[in-house]
Amino acid sequence: MTTRIAVFGTGYLGATHAACMAELGHEVLGVDVDAAKLAKLEAGEVPFYEPGLEEVLRRNLAAGRLRFTSSYEEAAEFADIHFLGVGTPQKKGEFAADLKFVDAVIETLAPLLTGPAVIFGKSTVPVGTAERLGARARELAPAGDAVEVAWNPEFLREGFAVQDTLHPDRLVLGVDRNRPGRAEAVAREVYAQLLDEGIPFLVSDLATAELVKASANAFLATKISFINAIAEVCEASGADVTVLADAIGHDARIGRRFLNAGLGFGGGCLPKDIRAFMARAGELGADQALTFLREVDNINMRRRTRMVELAREACGSLLGARVAVLGAAFKPDSDDVRDSPALNVAGQIQLQGAAVNVYDPKAMDNSRALFPTLGYSDTALDACEGADVVLVLTEWPEFQKLQPADLDAVVRKKVLIDGRNCLDPQQWRDAGWTYRGLGRP
Ligand code: UDX
Repeated sequence: MTTRIAVFGTGYLGATHAACMAELGHEVLGVDVDAAKLAKLEAGEVPFYEPGLEEVLRRNLAAGRLRFTSSYEEAAEFADIHFLGVGTPQKKGEFAADLKFVDAVIETLAPLLTGPAVIFGKSTVPVGTAERLGARARELAPAGDAVEVAWNPEFLREGFAVQDTLHPDRLVLGVDRNRPGRAEAVAREVYAQLLDEGIPFLVSDLATAELVKASANAFLATKISFINAIAEVCEASGADVTVLADAIGHDARIGRRFLNAGLGFGGGCLPKDIRAFMARAGELGADQALTFLREVDNINMRRRTRMVELAREACGSLLGARVAVLGAAFKPDSDDVRDSPALNVAGQIQLQGAAVNVYDPKAMDNSRALFPTLGYSDTALDACEGADVVLVLTEWPEFQKLQPADLDAVVRKKVLIDGRNCLDPQQWRDAGWTYRGLGRP
């Protein structure tokens, strides 16, 4: 059944959700306040790098199922099903999440709702937000109690956004148990195709749905920091964390995924989400429950310091050294540099007096905007020109294909530090290079 849907926010989350809901056959209106972003999307261009999204966007624009607007009036007129997919960044100088974008959508949209409507929140928010937004929406909307707020957290990974939206591991919906309404029935209609395919659908109260998302990200971050903590012990004892991870990962209770030791996690989600989770637990008087996440954060940040130390060791002193940095995105298949471990390391090394040359297959523009003083090169080989040390900080396939012979002629010293344990140590050592990985002998 075709349904009309408005999606508020056209960033990674909102643009993907809008295009994918159209792909499911719905009529979709994407809404944003950023006119430049809207113009790009209307022209079939995705304003960020996300494999496969442009095809879905173009197909659905051409089919007339997908449009974009900056007008909330148009959105309120067009649909009675609204998805909220705006960002919840970390507040400046605090751990807590900044909810100004989420709040702004409700403040603008609710007064325009003259008839029954369901607003599904998708953004990652502190537990308790959905209930508060629901009360505010009912207060502001001419339709009053006929406006419902439900929570439908999003678990998509950048680089796999389309696949994760159209073939999710599960769908989670939080509904207001005190006000039985249409939200569950509407969600079943919107996601009918996915439910027919047997995707698990879990319905809970609002708080549980909000916490499912926070805990999933906290668990993933903990898993990465666990293996990175073990990597520190491996380094101290001459053991190899990659073999160790394979070995413990075979235990189905542990699982091998998210056990890749290296430079640690970054991006627009995991770092700020674990901090917001701690801040919210504190507000609720449950701060002790999540103090371990502070250690998860510390272990993660220590990986970056360790990388800088290894680069310094390799060069003797960073003052006047030339350092090649391969990778700037927080992970491959993304041009996102938000809280990117790679750029953080590059910046620290430059501060210590080295000339840093960065290359990334997709994230050059975003890197230049965020770190304008770093040196940038158009190719991996150019970045390595005259280098005293080569640092691989994002595991792009392009870097995994690099051959020692490609770099032999351009570098000053044959030293490579593999911050993602993504290269074959033996191959580089056999070619006369000094190879160092994180958590490997
Ligand atoms: C994450 C969650 O996976 C997703 O479910 C949620 O909706 C948003 O946050 P994303 O930020 O896109 O997604 O990236 P993810 O693939 O989870 O990687 C996060 C970071 O962890 C990256 O910097 C990555 O390099 C790092 N990582 C991941 C590791 O260091 N080791 C691993 O084993 C896995």
